[in-house]
Amino acid sequence: MKAFNFFNPTRILFGKDKAENLGAELKKDCIAKVLMIAGGGSIRQNGAYADFVKTMQEHKIDFVESWGVQANPTLEKARELIELAKRENVQAIVAIGGGSVIDTAKAVASGYYLEDIWAVYQRKAVIREALPLYTILTISATGSEMNGNTVLTNTETLQKWGIGSEKIYPRLSVIDPSYQRTLPAAQTVNGALDAIAHILEFYFMDPDACVTLGINDSLQCTIIEMTDRLLADPQDFSARASLAWAATLALNGLSGVGLAGGDWACHQIEHSFSALHPRIAHGAGLGVIFPAWIEFMAERQPAVFNRWAKNVWGASGISEAVMLFRDKIKAWGSPTNLRELGISESDIPLLVEKSMIAPRLGALSRFTASDVEALLMLAF
Ligand code: NZQ
Ligand code: ZN
Repeated sequence: MKAFNFFNPTRILFGKDKAENLGAELKKDCIAKVLMIAGGGSIRQNGAYADFVKTMQEHKIDFVESWGVQANPTLEKARELIELAKRENVQAIVAIGGGSVIDTAKAVASGYYLEDIWAVYQRKAVIREALPLYTILTISATGSEMNGNTVLTNTETLQKWGIGSEKIYPRLSVIDPSYQRTLPAAQTVNGALDAIAHILEFYFMDPDACVTLGINDSLQCTIIEMTDRLLADPQDFSARASLAWAATLALNGLSGVGLAGGDWACHQIEHSFSALHPRIAHGAGLGVIFPAWIEFMAERQPAVFNRWAKNVWGASGISEAVMLFRDKIKAWGSPTNLRELGISESDIPLLVEKSMIAPRLGALSRFTASDVEALLMLAF
């Protein structure tokens, strides 16, 4: 197991009706005025917005509402909301929604104290302070409710870039799985695939990280089983709860302990898909690229790839496991190749270029542009 530092300051309130405690928590933290950030309106249907308004009113906390964060959120929207937060002189941010809303809220919380938030994504500035952030999660996928990461797209330059900072972990997150009963099946699946991908980014880094690999086997098996159950019965609350907690643990630091920070080539490559085509859901893109990446990489670390094949898929070899993985993605109704994602062969040169913009791509193996091209052709 590699040396590691572990840090996670986020308090979690997990379970039904937990959002009713938010007002009291804000009051305890001496917060009198917040900026609420939300997406396209699903929180009006799932009850999260009504619960937020109720607890704010009960505890006489003033709030300004801002709506319209889109999936695959943009720098432009974050900049608009930073100006609003400054104008309204808020003391904290409350994000209600999924990763897109929470990631935007993190940019707003830190951008409040910066001249230009994009400079941080460009690694030209660092976050030194941020407004306190509280979240009410409505889709389990990214782990953003319990990590210090944010990913935004600069639509002018077609760069979808992520950053991490200890200053932007939410102070508190409410995870009430009952808000997720309104999710369309495809969104439940996108979330499950993203959570599996987070585990896989770490999984193959060190076969000796036995504790973490044991946890990661269990998280993957749980996510697969709970997703199957939810596709059969979307109102299965117990499956929602287990899927939600597994997805949070998939990217809150725990799944990466002793695994050298992970690989992240697949995420970087997927981000180029959704930067070019914002309609592509992050989880769906990962469901296409990850099985191909495992096929591409398996010979380099056969022991740990075989462990994954056996423990997660009950397979006798890696090719059988990849086949079972793809069959599962297909059975869940998600794309299994780039064509089904709506990517054409003529997009590939630009996808390669956008995947290569960071200083390095991949850790288990450092990818060159021709590796990315070969991988994309394998996924085509
Ligand atoms: O806009 P609203 O109305 O909120 O609708 C959303 C959106 O259309 C809808 N939704 C959310 N909860 C719902 C619901 N619909 C019905 N019922 C509910 N309960 O679902 C759609 C997708 O939401 P989004 O927030 O985009 O999904 P997700 O949580 O998957 O976030 C994806 C974004 O996070 C980034 C991705 O790249 C992508 O931009 N990531 C963030 C990470 C992080 N911060 O650690 C890591 C990830 O790897 C990822 O890169
Ligand atoms: Zn992800």
